[in-house]
Amino acid sequence: ASVDRGSAPDFTAKEIDEQPAAARRLLDGLLGRLQGGQLLEDLGLGAPARIRLVACGTSGHAAEVTARVLAVEGAIPTRVVTASEPDLAVPEPGTLTVAVSQSGETADVLAALDRWGDPVLAITNAPRSSLARRADAVLGLGCGPEVGVAATKTFTAQVVAGVALALAVASGTGRLSAARLAHLEEVLDGLPMRLATTAARAAGPAADLAEELAGEPGVVFVSRGAGVPYAREGALKLEELTYRWVEAVPAGELKHGPIALLGPGTPAVVVAAKPRGRLAVGIAEMTARGARAVVVGPPEDATLPTCAPSEEPPWGPLEAAIALQLFAREMTVRLGHEVDRPRNLAKSVTVE
Ligand code: G6P
Repeated sequence: ASVDRGSAPDFTAKEIDEQPAAARRLLDGLLGRLQGGQLLEDLGLGAPARIRLVACGTSGHAAEVTARVLAVEGAIPTRVVTASEPDLAVPEPGTLTVAVSQSGETADVLAALDRWGDPVLAITNAPRSSLARRADAVLGLGCGPEVGVAATKTFTAQVVAGVALALAVASGTGRLSAARLAHLEEVLDGLPMRLATTAARAAGPAADLAEELAGEPGVVFVSRGAGVPYAREGALKLEELTYRWVEAVPAGELKHGPIALLGPGTPAVVVAAKPRGRLAVGIAEMTARGARAVVVGPPEDATLPTCAPSEEPPWGPLEAAIALQLFAREMTVRLGHEVDRPRNLAKSVTVE
């Protein structure tokens, strides 16, 4: 089916805009089904002893967020496996494999599944894909078609679906209390509004920043804790669309190498985490070398302002993703590159 981009300048812009509505639809179908692991039961799955998440690219970043929530809220042994490196996962009894793939056609993901036992749960935007057919259960994203090669709305939706799954698993084991689950569900319920507010707040600053940094050959991204997958995702988005070199690391790793990249004016994007802790140290280390720190986070001290909940949830600063998507897109437009179809990349990679 052909998709109309309406009045949007490109599909990527349209799909960035669709994120609050996509998150709303998904949450409406998921909230209220997490208590006691109900969601797993609805999917026909038993309570897993451990979880293996398998994905590539952007979907891998959503898997990292999911793994963190499983660890923090459920103490469930979890590992994220890059689909093209499946040897890193040793089969263990009681493992649920969760394959995260927007297209459901990524060959490396499908090949990885051939190596492991069932059951497989697919988190995908393509309910009729090869992955969905292969899986024992499907958690659909319901985002509608995503045309832009760089994933945007499917990323936020994968995070929402993964977090819901993680909370359901954690609640099922009794490790996550009913009261804490209710609180986290409330914070999730407010996400669509926060995404919309972030888009409104960050749009202008993202355009200004793109103008300022368009001539820079590379950008360093740092965060810590739950912010790290979003730093990686922001870097990947910028790299895919603008062809700039990027480096994304947990702030504590700066001193082990990446700090050597920094000189006067080097852009260093900091995805804010709460509490700042070692991130504050990282920012100081970078600015001491003359780096231009670009903070993405709550408006008080941010270059790219977001709308975040007052306390950082276990899934971290998801709102930052939208600000970083806007920034990457704006820079691409400034550079005159094709936003929806970056060079050398494909929407779904059906070769191993
Ligand atoms: C391609 C796309 C990426 C995507 C990755 C995984 O490389 O360009 O945007 O993250 O494939 O795709 P999947 O469909 O498995 O999520």
